[in-house]
Amino acid sequence: MEILNREFPDSSIARIVSDIKQKPELRALDEAFVTELLVKELTQAPKLIDFILKHEPRTLDRSEKYKKLIKSVRAKLRKTYGMFLTKEFRKQKRLLHDLREAVLKTDIPMHAIEKYKALLRTHVSTKERLDIYPELYWKIWEITAKPRKVIDISAGLNPFSFPWMGLNNVDYLATELNKTDVDLLNEYFEFKRFGLYGLAIQLDLQQAIKRPEMLQGLPKSDVCFLFKVLDTLEEFAKGHKASEVLIANVPVRWVVASFPTRTIGGKRSMSSKKRTWIEQMCKRLGYTFKHFVLKNEAFYVIDKQP
Ligand SMILES: C[S@@+](CC[C@H](N)C(=O)[O-])C[C@H]1O[C@@H](n2cnc3c(N)ncnc32)[C@H](O)[C@@H]1O
Repeated sequence: MEILNREFPDSSIARIVSDIKQKPELRALDEAFVTELLVKELTQAPKLIDFILKHEPRTLDRSEKYKKLIKSVRAKLRKTYGMFLTKEFRKQKRLLHDLREAVLKTDIPMHAIEKYKALLRTHVSTKERLDIYPELYWKIWEITAKPRKVIDISAGLNPFSFPWMGLNNVDYLATELNKTDVDLLNEYFEFKRFGLYGLAIQLDLQQAIKRPEMLQGLPKSDVCFLFKVLDTLEEFAKGHKASEVLIANVPVRWVVASFPTRTIGGKRSMSSKKRTWIEQMCKRLGYTFKHFVLKNEAFYVIDKQP
């Protein structure tokens, strides 16, 4: 691989990526995604590239410069991904097994609700949303009508909130960067219970933004959830262009985008309940929207075909 006109052996990149991932909460991350962040970091530090290329791996590991690089990339990864996992995430396999047992015994998803909740508690975003799920989907369907086809972008564990959706015949496509979530979701969709026909695929939004045809190629659907995704996306790029590309190209009529009105950890809010840029974007593109707030999350339901 070439970085700033210097030939960087793939084996060195792979070794650094592996060192970065030596933390339990980062182990599941996609190699390509970590590589992308590492290359970005190195591109900003030409002297560090020369330093790494000059040194033997064994001496390199002990150097302060190398340790600093590893720490810095880890910090960025935690910011975009790692912080969304709760301490419970290691239990996910067992919890999925318990859910399977429970759903096989009933025809009514609500009968297994405690098992769904246990899984939802293993991810910060869905844990924070537990109190509002009973109301959330009814508020959305009131505007959009019940969908037959849903796309849930960077879904995390949100598909486990299915019992509250009140749907009984839905094609559900979940995308996620994190391969562990994708695998877990596909095992869950394999239950094929209650009219939920699901599929999870890996999708890096950084790539999809650069190649909007990746978004246009998703199956044409009724509603797309972008729950707490746009702020994450914008960590990487200034401005709202990436969010706009995503909203405009995803092949649905309705986009439901949400934002935290508080920062993770419950600190005093810096984020407001409204995002004026979304409202201005809708006006400019001829979309209409409805806005509502439930607890600590603000929702925009955008109609792209008013
Ligand atoms: C705040 S969580 C929201 C999860 C889910 N939508 C919800 O609200 O329950 C943000 C999600 O974005 C995903 N993510 C981070 N960077 C991404 C990228 N470059 N491409 C796709 N997804 C990404 C993370 O894996 C994480 O699951």
